[in-house]
Amino acid sequence: METKHYAVALDGPSGAGKSTLAKAVAKELGIMYVDTGAIYRVIGLAARRSGIKPRDEAAVTALLPSLDVRMEHGTDGVQRMYLGGEDVSDEIRLPEISMYASAVSAHAPVRTFLLEMQRKLAREQNVIMDGRDIGTVVLPDAEVKIFLTADVEVRAKRRFLELEQRGTPKPYDEVLAELRERDWNDTHRDVAPLREAEDAVRADTSNLDFEQSTALILQIIRERAGL
Ligand code: DC
Repeated sequence: METKHYAVALDGPSGAGKSTLAKAVAKELGIMYVDTGAIYRVIGLAARRSGIKPRDEAAVTALLPSLDVRMEHGTDGVQRMYLGGEDVSDEIRLPEISMYASAVSAHAPVRTFLLEMQRKLAREQNVIMDGRDIGTVVLPDAEVKIFLTADVEVRAKRRFLELEQRGTPKPYDEVLAELRERDWNDTHRDVAPLREAEDAVRADTSNLDFEQSTALILQIIRERAGL
């Protein structure tokens, strides 16, 4: 039986719950979850390791040709990231890498460098891809586009609890200030800024719990993709 080919673009600000929801939805639908933020994090990590200021576009661009960035999905569906053959999946999650990733992602050459890697994945299988510019730039023809958002205070509170649970707590005010800064960076850069695609469905989870948010996303996908 031929299965329907479709892609789900899931964009939104940091801390909106994109990855948690996308993972649950991918499992439910039996499709691949692609976390595109992870590849910007690898570039951020590479810049940090090389002692490059992430805002220095010329220096970051000069670094790109020497980088071997790979993304692999295991049979369990878990995405792992490699830099020069080294598994950096855990290291890129360090909180200090977030700002590096946000800064390097503002450079056009970085985005161009990573574009084809993302498009290829969506051509080869059904995906739910999360990021900032998936519906607007990476997969403008995606069958389903969702803009996932929540109030910045709600996102900060969720992130604060998550950090606490992970054993790397941070004061709430700091978490909120960082989220605001990343929101500003991600929406004000010149290339592929975070914005809602015209044909995206907006899902605001400020007042929804995890189960309710998952149900909402699944409903949107089933309707839009005609599943
Ligand atoms: O989703 P994340 O927090 O792991 O993403 C890290 C940074 O990468 C984020 O601040 C913005 C950038 N990013 C991007 O510019 N485009 C994407 N498609 C995904 C992430």
